[in-house]
Amino acid sequence: MSGNGDGAAGDDAAASGETVIRRERFAGGPARSFMSSLDADARIFAADLAVDRAHTLMLAEQGIVADDDAAAILGALGSVEAAGHDALPEGEDVHEAIESAVVAEVGPAGGKMHTARSRNDEVATCIRYRFREDLLDAAEASLDLRAALLDAAAEQTDTVVPGFTHRQHAQPTTVGHLLASYAGAVARDTERLLAAYERTNRSPLGAAAFAGTTFDVDRERTAELLGFHEVVENAADAVTARDFLLEGCGAFAALSTTLSGLATDLIEGAKDGHVDLDDAYASTSSIMPQKKNPDSLELVRAVAGDAAGDLTGLLTTLKGLPRAYNRDLQRATPHAWDAVDITTEATEVTAGAVATAEWDAAACAADAGAGFSTATGVADALAAAGLPFRSAHELVAVAATEIDDDATVDEQIDALDAAATASLDDSLSAYVDQSTLADLLSPAGSVAARDSRGGPAAAAVDESLTRLRDSHADHAAAVDAHREALATAEDRFTAAVNEYV
Ligand code: ARG
Repeated sequence: MSGNGDGAAGDDAAASGETVIRRERFAGGPARSFMSSLDADARIFAADLAVDRAHTLMLAEQGIVADDDAAAILGALGSVEAAGHDALPEGEDVHEAIESAVVAEVGPAGGKMHTARSRNDEVATCIRYRFREDLLDAAEASLDLRAALLDAAAEQTDTVVPGFTHRQHAQPTTVGHLLASYAGAVARDTERLLAAYERTNRSPLGAAAFAGTTFDVDRERTAELLGFHEVVENAADAVTARDFLLEGCGAFAALSTTLSGLATDLIEGAKDGHVDLDDAYASTSSIMPQKKNPDSLELVRAVAGDAAGDLTGLLTTLKGLPRAYNRDLQRATPHAWDAVDITTEATEVTAGAVATAEWDAAACAADAGAGFSTATGVADALAAAGLPFRSAHELVAVAATEIDDDATVDEQIDALDAAATASLDDSLSAYVDQSTLADLLSPAGSVAARDSRGGPAAAAVDESLTRLRDSHADHAAAVDAHREALATAEDRFTAAVNEYV
């Protein structure tokens, strides 16, 4: 665009790649498309319009730009919004393209929009404006997943299932305890997303290139209009800082890592016949007609690799970048968008898979005692009767070498008796009576006995679920409060704009 509002001249200029900012000297050439972020900037198109409006309003309120010029600029921004990102003229990025479009509609006075700012504070503000919404969406997805986990856990507090360490049968637990463990982990992921929101929701606008401005700008006013709860004070820090993206991507990487563990537990559970995924979350083989594969969860698991890659890409791009703006930063941003999109979608898919999965209590129970996994309970009972735990551990370990996977409870008791007689010169019943022992050797009895806080006994899991529901409600309230604060700010902002147009 030529910037003089002359349609014909503007079209010629556009054809040669000129814009209001670059004119002929920096137009065209082999590196133009390499340098452009215009396509990727579709993500911040709405953000840039908001930032342009807030800045223009502030300029008018401060008497830096005349009211009628501001009104014309705000009107043109309305046209740009209505036409959409795809209708933007050429430009190195969305900021330049929108400015070109505004100048094309308003004439040279449209160029007043960029008074007292730089694309450096502009882009940093746009990214924060958009990323905070993404963080809230992701936090909400994590809350939905937690709700699905809590509901399923509450239904399965009595469903005994094998628990593993080192992928070896370890101790019986319950499906409820397993799912509640993930609800706790995802709760921390929500906390991380909300913490990242706090530091994202700060305004860099008014920092200009990095060194402030001679104009009497009101940075608090633009921050308020845009719903930011404070400004990033130092102008050089404001334009350079992307640690809010690092923190957010760290939260996405952590959340996706949590999801990947849950995905694996469900994949293994499906393999063992303990859980049946809904068909909507499974796929089949193109050759083996009998197969039902847990593809959705395998993809969820792989997303953790993408999110870790995004975090690494971001860290590597930011490492060693000096003050202030460097164009490297343009390539930092898409890592964050990718992490947002894949992690949020994976969270939603996981929530659906958890909510629709059918647990087979009988199949779970049949495997729960495999590998003499109730052994620890016997050692605990001997220790409770006065034997040093280490001696009890040794006694049960000796018995374990004689106990097969398919041994009955009676055979297990015989082996334990033999080991007791050999090492204690006393019978086992001197320490634990037969019926207690039989109970502890059953997976259900073993689980019921482990009722310490956070343990798998149904009552302990029920208590945990209450706490987890409280924390869910607290986090949901925090997300709602942030959304409300943004909506209130937006209403005031719209009203302020409407006074001009
Ligand atoms: N497209 C740029 C980015 O994403 C906008 C800022 C350009 N600033 C500059 N000084 N070239 O970072």
